[in-house]
Amino acid sequence: MSESGLGKIGVIGIGVMGNGIAQVAAQSGFTTLVTDISAEVLERGLANLDKSLSRLVKAHEKSGGEKGISPVAKDEALTRLSTTTALEDLLSCDLIIEAAPEKPELKEGINRKLAELDYKGILVSNTSGISITRLAAAFGTPERFMGMHFMNPVPLQKGVEIIRGLATSDDTFEKIVALCHDMGKIEIPAEDKAGFAINRMWVPFVNEAIRIVEEGVASVDDVDKCTLCLAHKMGPLMTADYVGLDTMLFICDVLEEELGSAYKASPLLKRLVESGQLGAKTGIGFYSWDGYRAAGVNPDVARYRIK
Ligand SMILES: NC(=O)c1ccc[n+]([C@@H]2O[C@H](COP(=O)([O-])OP(=O)(O)OC[C@H]3O[C@@H](n4cnc5c(N)ncnc54)[C@H](O)[C@@H]3O)[C@@H](O)[C@H]2O)c1
Repeated sequence: MSESGLGKIGVIGIGVMGNGIAQVAAQSGFTTLVTDISAEVLERGLANLDKSLSRLVKAHEKSGGEKGISPVAKDEALTRLSTTTALEDLLSCDLIIEAAPEKPELKEGINRKLAELDYKGILVSNTSGISITRLAAAFGTPERFMGMHFMNPVPLQKGVEIIRGLATSDDTFEKIVALCHDMGKIEIPAEDKAGFAINRMWVPFVNEAIRIVEEGVASVDDVDKCTLCLAHKMGPLMTADYVGLDTMLFICDVLEEELGSAYKASPLLKRLVESGQLGAKTGIGFYSWDGYRAAGVNPDVARYRIK
């Protein structure tokens, strides 16, 4: 029996984050049902998920069983997973984790639809920066709504920021804490203020790293090397490419709106997003990408200078 008492988990969106969330939910013993906009997207997402589980099996073999998961655990996780294109099918879930794109109206629309369908369980959003209270209002039952901000890549990152909206109930909060434990994660409670805790620290750090490049103080790869001196595993510009530069810009704007001009997005970040260079998912951002492997600095970024 799980600590949370939850049995079936729904996941909305099988993109970068939904994929990892569905994987971890299924690995943790939950019956997991994932929805997305089309059968093709679901098929692609499941193929990525399968690859991710296979990497864990390889790590298991290489480490003599110390790391990763066994082939049997992989098969068991896969049998707990299923997909659907119909949101209605998620009504039987005890809890739904929404991991759709970071667009307030889109997320509000999903919440409204679930309310119209009379969904009775808990709904959480993986939003990076949208007000939890705002999303809870669209759901209409704010007591059963909160934020659950997983980190990328979900199967490897232990921390999950958990954010109460203004009216989230104690019962919902406690269930989410227990769910973090069930999923082998560490909960980090934060209040519903722009950027919560993690992005409030992280986004200005990335923004400043971009300004250092714009001003010609240091190059892209040297900026990223600097943070190795801080014992970070990956530099801010490479991580920003992983996260998605559109998501980074969106959070900058949210922070600036609520906390002031110190959080204003750097011009280079805006230019990259305007040009559709969104990082690893589009194959180019601060770096050129070969799949999810960086293959050199983007020459346009290397050339760009503003003082
Ligand atoms: N990328 C990151 O590193 C990161 C980290 C933490 C939180 N987040 C947050 O997680 C959420 C998802 O981000 P992502 O990077 O996985 O995005 P993504 O674009 O990779 O994936 C989103 C998925 O949602 C699907 N989708 C779109 N509309 C839908 C709908 N109406 N119903 C069902 N599915 C729908 C898309 O087809 C896509 O597969 C965002 O709120 C983002 O801010 C992202």
